[in-house]
Amino acid sequence: MKTLLFVDCCIRRDHSRTGMLATAFLEHLPEGWQVERLCLMDEPLQPLMEGGFLQREALLKAGDLHHRRFDYAWQFQRADAILIAAPFYDLSIPALLKVYIENVSVDGITFTCDERGLHGNCRGEKMIFVTSRGGFYEGSPEEMGSRYMEAMCRFFGTGEYTCIAADGVDIDPRQTPAILQEAIEKAAKAAKGL
Ligand SMILES: Cc1cc2nc3c(=O)[nH]c(=O)nc-3n(C[C@H](O)[C@H](O)[C@H](O)COP(=O)(O)O)c2cc1C
Repeated sequence: MKTLLFVDCCIRRDHSRTGMLATAFLEHLPEGWQVERLCLMDEPLQPLMEGGFLQREALLKAGDLHHRRFDYAWQFQRADAILIAAPFYDLSIPALLKVYIENVSVDGITFTCDERGLHGNCRGEKMIFVTSRGGFYEGSPEEMGSRYMEAMCRFFGTGEYTCIAADGVDIDPRQTPAILQEAIEKAAKAAKGL
């Protein structure tokens, strides 16, 4: 059995259009995959600051990589594939997802820094990012959500990167259902090819 880690950052939960893409993906997973769902809205995630920052530095210095604060990083490192769902906020990803990434970016777990430079340690062969955007940003230099996630995929060494986006969902409500349907179909197809 392979494990798909589903990182759910659909802030609006059941009202999320991004969540519809994630659901389509999960419903079309081939046999042999089990899903580990991590709902970021329910996690006690903290940005790196103050005592939490100092504690992390001390643990890394002591080589204590099995402290429970690194559980997110180990879970990310060992997943066979990763599905991340997050809406497009302020030209990028929601701050909550960035905080999660701060928590999984741990030298010695998800990446290593040595004389050869920085290289990823993650086992995952694929990272799939599903998103929805109010405006049309596909291919635009102002789109810094998927481009950032793609860079993080390379950084962590999580294999092949795919982004499935419903673009322009807030522009003309008459077009929204068709835009979502097209993205839902792409998500289902991507899942079948996992
Ligand atoms: C806080 C916030 C910031 C947003 N920033 C942008 C933005 O920079 N560009 C854009 O096109 N849409 C932006 N949107 C619109 C969302 O990308 C769009 O409504 C998306 O479909 C929301 O996803 P959801 O339905 O999964 O919550 C923003 C929405 C919110 C709530």
